[in-house]
Amino acid sequence: MKASQSRGEVVGIVGGGQLGRMLALAGLPLSIECRVLEPGDNPPAAVAAECLKAPFEDATRAIAWANQVDAVTYEFENIPTETLEAIAATVPVRPSPQSLRVSCDRMLEKQLFGKLGIDTTRWQSVSNWQELQRAADYLGFPLVIKTRRFGYDGKGQAIARNHAELESAWLLLGGAASKVGLLVEEMIPFTSEVSQISVRGLSGEIRHYPLTRNVHREGILRFSAPVLGEVESVGQQARQSTTMLLEDMGHVGVLAVEFFENQGHLIANEIAPRVHNSGHWTQDGADICQFENHLRAVVGWPLGATHPVGHACMINLVGYIPPVWEILAIEGAHLHLYGKEVRAGRKVGHVNLRCKGTAELEKAIRQVATHLPGEDVSRWLKQISNS
Ligand SMILES: Nc1ncnc2c1ncn2[C@@H]1O[C@H](COP(=O)(O)OP(=O)(O)OP(=O)(O)O)[C@@H](O)[C@H]1O
Ligand SMILES: [Mg+2]
Repeated sequence: MKASQSRGEVVGIVGGGQLGRMLALAGLPLSIECRVLEPGDNPPAAVAAECLKAPFEDATRAIAWANQVDAVTYEFENIPTETLEAIAATVPVRPSPQSLRVSCDRMLEKQLFGKLGIDTTRWQSVSNWQELQRAADYLGFPLVIKTRRFGYDGKGQAIARNHAELESAWLLLGGAASKVGLLVEEMIPFTSEVSQISVRGLSGEIRHYPLTRNVHREGILRFSAPVLGEVESVGQQARQSTTMLLEDMGHVGVLAVEFFENQGHLIANEIAPRVHNSGHWTQDGADICQFENHLRAVVGWPLGATHPVGHACMINLVGYIPPVWEILAIEGAHLHLYGKEVRAGRKVGHVNLRCKGTAELEKAIRQVATHLPGEDVSRWLKQISNS
């Protein structure tokens, strides 16, 4: 049974984490109903979407679930492409399984960057210890070694500065037991990390959010802020590369492209074929947020304006929820909690700040930071001071 017009569009989301939750919430005012396929119990998305509990590998149940919706999307990369391909035979999957296939494998990502002439780190793909040694000789130390698949928040990665560390990295990442293969890349110096969040509609229309500067700690994103009054050439490079990627993959929906910035030059790191943590600030700091724009793209509706509203940033809540009353009392603070059990290293919410000027934003950032011990606020403030 397909959705009737009066019922509005129905979107299936593969994955019911916080991204699924925020997508489903963004759909409510537009009468876009979201339904989730998720193997876990009580996923964060359950507050706003009907959830079917089933393993991602169960293509039969996934197809039956998908046949009840108008279009299917996904909120993370580590799902079997076979499941999406099986769904795509009868129900539109947006972004297409092709976007997923590329983004869930670091080697395919690097090959695509190369094909499109997008600068990236020098790299080698390896599947045994001898190849890893040869790659190290070729690329030179220091190196970052990553599993080709299943990495997130810096997991599935190791740094090797010399031969001894190369061996520990090999063992840490599974050694000969590793089935997924490794990608070795040069470790590069960078002045900042930035991401481009863009969206492509079904008609091919593309809209770009402002470039976002990101601060990571222990491999986990902590802080993001849009670059306002950007250094034009950097923004242009990001938009150009992202447009090429969107068009080459025939991508429909939001695409996030992460870059390292070195002296005004961008080096592509990786892509995510979905709404992205570094785009959460758009919920309160852009005209139409990434979640709504992704849904609009998935159902084939016109895209919304992506321009910034006020001076905004996002602060992730990792392994800790500060006193809610204290956060809400901060001028410009918008609190987003994911309904997840608090655990060390786990993203459990974020605070978006939107203020009328940089001085007000800085004050609000400092106020939030007093509740987040261990964070290096000076690094955050640097991102907004030269925006
Ligand atoms: N080649 C490199 N040179 C220097 N730093 C790197 C390199 N590769 C990764 N890093 C650092 O490690 C972080 C995580 O790497 P990457 O984005 O590739 O993996 P990830 O686990 O998918 O992360 P996330 O899920 O947060 O996007 C980067 O944001 C960057 O700080
Ligand atoms: Mg990354």
